[in-house]
Amino acid sequence: MKKTVLITGGAGFIGLNLVDYILKKKNYKIIVLDNLSSGNSGLLKKIVEDNGLIFNKKFSPDKNFLFVKADIRDKNLDNIFEKTDFVVHLAAQTGVIPSIENPFKDAEINIIGTLNLLTLSVKHNIKKFIFSSSAAPLGEQIPPLNEGKVPSPLSPYGASKLAGEGYCKAFYGSFGLETVIFRFSNVYGIYSYHKGSVVAEFYKRIIKGKPIYVYGDGNQTRDFIFAKDLAKVIVETLEKNNIGGEIFQLGTGVETSVNQLISYIKDIMNYSLEIEYKPERKGEIRRNYASIEKAKKILGFEPEYDLKMGLKLTYNWFLENMDKV
Ligand SMILES: NC(=O)c1ccc[n+]([C@@H]2O[C@H](COP(=O)([O-])OP(=O)(O)OC[C@H]3O[C@@H](n4cnc5c(N)ncnc54)[C@H](O)[C@@H]3O)[C@@H](O)[C@H]2O)c1
Repeated sequence: MKKTVLITGGAGFIGLNLVDYILKKKNYKIIVLDNLSSGNSGLLKKIVEDNGLIFNKKFSPDKNFLFVKADIRDKNLDNIFEKTDFVVHLAAQTGVIPSIENPFKDAEINIIGTLNLLTLSVKHNIKKFIFSSSAAPLGEQIPPLNEGKVPSPLSPYGASKLAGEGYCKAFYGSFGLETVIFRFSNVYGIYSYHKGSVVAEFYKRIIKGKPIYVYGDGNQTRDFIFAKDLAKVIVETLEKNNIGGEIFQLGTGVETSVNQLISYIKDIMNYSLEIEYKPERKGEIRRNYASIEKAKKILGFEPEYDLKMGLKLTYNWFLENMDKV
């Protein structure tokens, strides 16, 4: 019998990449649960239909795809969980600035929402619960980031993700729920139109003929991972045994400055870019990249897309789709 994956936040950037990947590569049924606060149900519908399935919104256990518009804090999700084998929890309040403006809202979604899903997962014997964390729980560190660093969040977002990590570990320790924590580095890729992250912002401005903004001198570094590489490792982890309660840093292990990123984008577009350098943003981390040795060793994780390749695919998607989304 086909297994069912519940993807919370499946109408968001990483979720859309994951749904597309599963529909192309794996014979799982999918349930997407999303309140559409930032997600895009039109794109989700297109992905589902392009893969030859029906975009169902009415519940029936024999459907291969189901979209449920609901909030992760909703206590009445038993009818969904009783049909689910695996949970990939991507839904979140994802912004640092909104978390500073409204820490309570951030905590309600990222902590209480996660706790609600974990509780439902125990009740319904979920086989694996994957939690999407980030580098934010670690705060400012001497890179490379790794799983052994002591967390020291700088923002409420980092604190709420750290709490989510803690509950995932605790639910493994107390109830045996097979939780796995993935700390994503900077994710970029197709379907990221609504994101404020650097690659998406650059492309939106470039395509509109506007200058791109660089905050500071552009020598700050990040570890850019293509969303499709994450989709692959998520799917491959669902049926892996003996990794309950484990944390994995997921990036490329490559440190890239914003200026290097811009030079790659220039090469792709083959013409010069208008760049405006602005004052450095307060609290911005200077150097940031991850060691992915643990994920390589235990999960066999090996990113396939180097930055130039991923940037080109992303640029082409923005060019084709920007006026459609
Ligand atoms: N994009 C990155 O660079 C990055 C880096 C590190 C970690 N992450 C984490 O990965 C996950 C996915 O991020 P993304 O970039 O796809 O974000 P996104 O905003 O594109 O997607 C999040 C989705 O969750 C939904 N959502 C938000 N609150 C909800 C709620 N209360 N109930 C139900 N649905 C809700 C939104 O509508 C959206 O579709 C998040 O947990 C984020 O913190 C992302």
